[in-house]
Amino acid sequence: MDKKRVERVYSNYAGIYDRLFGRVFRESREAAIRSLDIAPGERVLEVGVGTGLTLPLYPRHCEVVGIDLSRAMLDKARERVRRDGLGNVRLLHMDAADMAFGDDSFDRVVAAYVVTAVPDYAGLMREIVRVCRPQGRIVLLNHFVNGHRLVGAVERVISPLCEHIGFRTDLTVDRVLDGLPLSVDRHEKVKPLGMWHLVECVNRKDGTRRSD
Ligand SMILES: C[S@@+](CC[C@H](N)C(=O)[O-])C[C@H]1O[C@@H](n2cnc3c(N)ncnc32)[C@H](O)[C@@H]1O
Repeated sequence: MDKKRVERVYSNYAGIYDRLFGRVFRESREAAIRSLDIAPGERVLEVGVGTGLTLPLYPRHCEVVGIDLSRAMLDKARERVRRDGLGNVRLLHMDAADMAFGDDSFDRVVAAYVVTAVPDYAGLMREIVRVCRPQGRIVLLNHFVNGHRLVGAVERVISPLCEHIGFRTDLTVDRVLDGLPLSVDRHEKVKPLGMWHLVECVNRKDGTRRSD
């Protein structure tokens, strides 16, 4: 996948995305935002915000910045922000693997169904760690390779085909987190079918450890 393909694929999805992926992932989106326990005044970044299905779920007492590579998806998100009067949300066209924000700009970062949709997941993760403050929380909601050998093997085989429709299916949680200063606070499978994972991490780039 490259950036041009991502933009093209998701521009094609924009008009139908909410009908395809809205209700089916609603519960897990709610669980992801709830798990962040966002305090008043905190700054939240959502990378790959898409049509903004999560935006109404954030408490109004926080400031939310949503970024996406697809202008068509962002247009849908802007409609939602207007329609729902979400005055605490700002939307920007930006590559999440090369962000214009300074270091430590956010208290919380959310990546919902994004890690497997970006051309450069390692670059995305490095940037998330950079822009999130030390001890800040990062939530990944995503499909990762199934632990079952046969299912996992099928997911790896079909991954190149899935890339044509906007995502890959061959990433494991370990591979995505490899080498990053993150500790996993919570990792659970979520609906539908328990095939998606909610992974909540603490940013330990200040060198602290879980027991500190
Ligand atoms: C499967 S959609 C998820 C949208 C939304 N987070 C949700 O929960 O429905 C993936 C989104 O990631 C965006 N995306 C892919 N690569 C990106 C990148 N490098 N930077 C920013 N957004 C990206 C796509 O344009 C698309 O809107």
